[in-house]
Amino acid sequence: MNQNPDFERFQNLSFEDFKTLAKDNSLSQYQKIGFLNIYREGKEKNIFQDIILKLALENEAKEDKILLDIGPGCSELPLMILDLCKDLSIKPILVDSKEMLDQLPSEGVVKYEGYFPNDVPTLISDYQNKVDYIVGYSILHYVFYNTCIFKFLDVAVSLLKPGGKLLMGDIPNISKRKRFYSTETGIAYHQKFMNTDSLPGVNHLIPEPTHIDDGVLLGIVQRYRNFGFDACLLPQPSTLPMFNRREDLLIQKY
Ligand SMILES: C[S@@+](CC[C@H](N)C(=O)[O-])C[C@H]1O[C@@H](n2cnc3c(N)ncnc32)[C@H](O)[C@@H]1O
Repeated sequence: MNQNPDFERFQNLSFEDFKTLAKDNSLSQYQKIGFLNIYREGKEKNIFQDIILKLALENEAKEDKILLDIGPGCSELPLMILDLCKDLSIKPILVDSKEMLDQLPSEGVVKYEGYFPNDVPTLISDYQNKVDYIVGYSILHYVFYNTCIFKFLDVAVSLLKPGGKLLMGDIPNISKRKRFYSTETGIAYHQKFMNTDSLPGVNHLIPEPTHIDDGVLLGIVQRYRNFGFDACLLPQPSTLPMFNRREDLLIQKY
């Protein structure tokens, strides 16, 4: 069991919980988005670089292109994404709670307040087949826990224009976690990170309600391939804080 009280505090957060965190100014920018500081402090530049690489956002002007960030939160990461949009002349659109969006700059940014897709019908009707890049970083597990991931993804991919890419990043995969922590490498990693002699808690062959696993992720890949998109799972580089138990999903419209 994890002894850090914040670990429990930031487990299984709802959209409403995130609103409360966003307004709590006793919290760091990382805690406001549900992370312990150790997982984000000094790491967001690496996350940003990985997003650029996976979306192939090379350093050239992209006038008339649109980037939608679903659930940008309020740490340095969305600021880096907004700066990149400015540099590359990409139109940025953000959708998150008012409480989160209020923490981010508004100049040159289109903001939609509310839960995607349920609360933003205008965004969905106005941007069908028009978006070049969609980023949803560290969000899919919250959608999985709270609502329907297929509704979320079906609507998101309907916004992509031909050639457009959707990156759902930083998805915790409980199967990957179990595989890793069942190895000597995983046990050594756990013991060093937690400064303990104990073994990581791993239970195979039990139900894992609320957790995304291989079945969910491979099912998503198959669903969108069957719909005519290109879809794949991508590993995270070891410079990212939870690379050994998380992965990314990339869906591209041909
Ligand atoms: C863990 S934070 C990640 C923030 C940011 N993407 C990052 O990685 O730094 C999750 C964010 O997603 C937002 N969120 C969760 N579900 C959402 C949804 N369906 N529509 C819009 N925002 C959502 C939360 O309010 C929160 O700001």
